[in-house]
Amino acid sequence: MRTKLINTFSYLLQFLLLWELVSYTQAYWIRDLSYCPRKREVTRQRQCFKSCFDDSDCQSRYRSCVCDYDCGMSCVKRGITCPFLTAPDHGNIIYSNGNRFGSRASHECETGYVLEGPKYRYCQGDMWWGPTNSIPYCAKEVFCNQPPEIINAVNDVPSTITTFHAGYSVKYTCLTGYVGNGTATSECTFLGQWTFSTLKCTPIDCGSPGILRNGFLSGERFDYPNMIAFFCNDGFELVGKDTTRACQENGLWSGAMPLCQKKACESPPIVSHGQIIQPDRTTNETVQYICEDGYQLQGSSILKCISSQWQPAAPMCEQITCDDPQTSFNGYIESSSHDNSSVYAIDSIVKFNCPSSLILRGSPISKCQFNRSWAPKIPKCEEPIPCLIPTLPSNAYYRTLRSDVQQIDDGAQLEYMCENSRYRRRIFCRQGKILPRQPKCFSDCQVESKKVMFSKKIYRHREKVYYTCKSHNLSLINNETIVCINGSLSLQPVCPQIETMCTVPHTLFLRNIANTTIPSGTSMEIGSSFSYTCIQDHQPINQSASVECLEDGKLSHHVNCVPKSCKEHPPMITNGRTIFHSTSHGSAARYRCFPGFKFENNNLVKLTCQFGLWLPKQLPKCLPIFCPNPGPLIYGRTYVVIRDERVSTLPIRSEFRSYIPTVSHGRTIEFECNSGYVLQGPNGLTCNHGRWMPAERPRCAIKNHVQPNIIFTG
Ligand SMILES: *[C@@H]1O[C@H](CO)[C@@H](O)[C@H](O)[C@H]1NC(C)=O
Ligand SMILES: *[C@@H]1O[C@H](CO)[C@@H](O)[C@H](O)[C@H]1NC(C)=O
Ligand SMILES: *[C@@H]1O[C@H](CO)[C@@H](O)[C@H](O)[C@H]1NC(C)=O
Ligand SMILES: *[C@@H]1O[C@H](CO)[C@@H](O)[C@H](O)[C@H]1NC(C)=O
Ligand SMILES: *[C@@H]1O[C@H](CO)[C@@H](O)[C@H](O)[C@H]1NC(C)=O
Ligand SMILES: *[C@@H]1O[C@H](CO)[C@@H](O)[C@H](O)[C@H]1NC(C)=O
Ligand SMILES: *[C@@H]1O[C@H](CO)[C@@H](O)[C@H](O)[C@H]1NC(C)=O
Ligand SMILES: *[C@@H]1O[C@H](CO)[C@@H](O)[C@H](O)[C@H]1NC(C)=O
Ligand SMILES: *[C@@H]1O[C@H](CO)[C@@H](O)[C@H](O)[C@H]1NC(C)=O
Repeated sequence: MRTKLINTFSYLLQFLLLWELVSYTQAYWIRDLSYCPRKREVTRQRQCFKSCFDDSDCQSRYRSCVCDYDCGMSCVKRGITCPFLTAPDHGNIIYSNGNRFGSRASHECETGYVLEGPKYRYCQGDMWWGPTNSIPYCAKEVFCNQPPEIINAVNDVPSTITTFHAGYSVKYTCLTGYVGNGTATSECTFLGQWTFSTLKCTPIDCGSPGILRNGFLSGERFDYPNMIAFFCNDGFELVGKDTTRACQENGLWSGAMPLCQKKACESPPIVSHGQIIQPDRTTNETVQYICEDGYQLQGSSILKCISSQWQPAAPMCEQITCDDPQTSFNGYIESSSHDNSSVYAIDSIVKFNCPSSLILRGSPISKCQFNRSWAPKIPKCEEPIPCLIPTLPSNAYYRTLRSDVQQIDDGAQLEYMCENSRYRRRIFCRQGKILPRQPKCFSDCQVESKKVMFSKKIYRHREKVYYTCKSHNLSLINNETIVCINGSLSLQPVCPQIETMCTVPHTLFLRNIANTTIPSGTSMEIGSSFSYTCIQDHQPINQSASVECLEDGKLSHHVNCVPKSCKEHPPMITNGRTIFHSTSHGSAARYRCFPGFKFENNNLVKLTCQFGLWLPKQLPKCLPIFCPNPGPLIYGRTYVVIRDERVSTLPIRSEFRSYIPTVSHGRTIEFECNSGYVLQGPNGLTCNHGRWMPAERPRCAIKNHVQPNIIFTG
């Protein structure tokens, strides 16, 4: 039982192995075909045996189908051997399977020597070692120095490698920012030298960065890694964050192009007591200075920014001062607005004082003016001159005067009263002279009026009189100032006419009026009326010459006389029409003749209405237009046609001639040829505004003879 089970197991195992072997053989068989092809060129170098897929192809049990290297699957004799090889100097050979078919001979060299030629050779079907015929040998080992440096390039030698034996190849690459040209590799030769690499790495060219207006750039080379710097011309400054640009590895310039902008000036200088105004804010190229009040500008008020400098020099604001008034005043001066420096600025006010024995002549105060002078004028201290008191008119008396006093002091005054006035009057003493020279008495004006309301009841001499009109608030007719002059008004106040009245118009002659029933300029009551007459050849503008004063104070009609209109229409003319639009003075009437008629004289086609008459008196005449004699129709006859009917045959020449000159517009003549003749051209003509139509004339030609038409005109 147990052995039976083992048997069954081994049987199963055998089956599995067999199955695997079959599948392996199949795979190998397929692999042989693809991995061991016969190389055609090899057959010329060595002997190849019959090609095969498997042993059955070989038809000999002494041969088997195996891979014979470059010959491919071939029928090779079983059990063949190759002769053993001689080891190279300084080297030895190791066989993988002795000298039997398929054995591999590995060549090796002593240290210090390198193998030249194939390392492995195989025992082939032709009983020789292949696949090449070259015999390897051991050559003394050769080293090169460090590979040569190429400017602006790097090689691919790893840092760990320090020795370079023959055959070592180096590849160069240009540094970024450089472009290479030429062979980029170098190899260590068996002479211990590197082959020459023609690689040249030239810097990348960024080209011109552009033009800098109003400036220039420094730096002659535009290739990597050069830099250029930008500079502006005088009066310009660089704008932009890049004052330099570099040609970069990628062939582009770094940064951005700057600009040269007109250099601005610094803020304009400050002038004490001065102010700056900028006339043109858009460019900031000019500034204007003005000085504070009381200061005067010295120098140029306008500065210009030229080459970033303000030119010309800034002005100064000088204080405006007046001279010390003390130098021309013989009294003493009080000043509120001046310090110890004795400088008097504008608007300084000084007060003048005289010693008690002297009297101040002129204004006691004065002010420093813009024009550096004092106004009012600097006064004087003078010796006082008293005045003798003058005698008054008989109706006057001094108010407060002791009888023993004979004179008054210089500068003093005296009051007096007149009997005919309620007001006091005065005299003054000035340097020994009395002003006004002679005391006089003037009467007051007592005013009272029904119509006028005065501001006062009594006005004194030379006093202005103010008043309004009682009845209404209209402005006064007389706008001149009225003054009281010695008891009477310079003008009588007048109030305008009450609104609700009419006035007969003034200046009648301007309105071509001969007369009015109420005198011109006079006012008239509401409801009343007047009429007017016009001068010769004129008529009232409105039909009625009677004018009423309406409730609103206006007249019912325009008051005016205008040239007379023509009563009749313009006269009619025979054979013509009249065209007119108006019969008023100055309007025109035009005339036009009916078709076929024309004016005797073209100047006479217009009449004008002048002061009631159509002028000129001679009327235009419309005369008929006749056509010229068309000439006789030789070998034929001419008829006159009226209303589509031949009214006459005119075979007789004389009769025709007498009729023809009176053929008028619109009339037609017809032609007919004698027998044996045929009419060529139109068979009729029509008189049209003095011309025959058509222009072509007919002729009578002998039958069957075609002759060209002859054209007449006229
Ligand atoms: C490389 O150099 C050769 C010889 O100097 C020249 O003819 C060729 O134009 C160069 N090529 C480039 C891309 O610069
Ligand atoms: C002019 O000056 C003002 C004040 O300094 C400044 O605000 C303005 O931008 C300037 N204008 C120009 C055009 O430079
Ligand atoms: C003016 O002078 C007087 C004395 O001469 C002095 O006391 C006073 O301080 C001065 N005032 C000024 C404003 O200098
Ligand atoms: C100075 O100005 C004042 C007032 O403005 C004037 O009365 C005076 O005549 C002027 N004087 C001169 C010298 O111009
Ligand atoms: C005149 O005007 C004043 C105010 O301007 C007014 O009070 C008064 O009634 C007016 N008088 C008449 C008569 O219109
Ligand atoms: C005063 O009357 C005169 C003419 O008499 C006139 O030219 C002037 O404009 C009047 N003034 C006023 C304020 O009515
Ligand atoms: C003022 O008028 C009165 C008469 O009303 C006359 O006697 C007198 O001389 C006049 N005075 C002068 C200064 O003309
Ligand atoms: C104006 O009219 C008045 C009154 O109707 C008359 O007496 C006078 O003769 C007329 N004058 C003229 C120039 O017509
Ligand atoms: C009078 O004539 C004027 C001018 O032609 C016109 O404007 C006005 O209306 C007329 N008035 C009357 C009452 O006919």
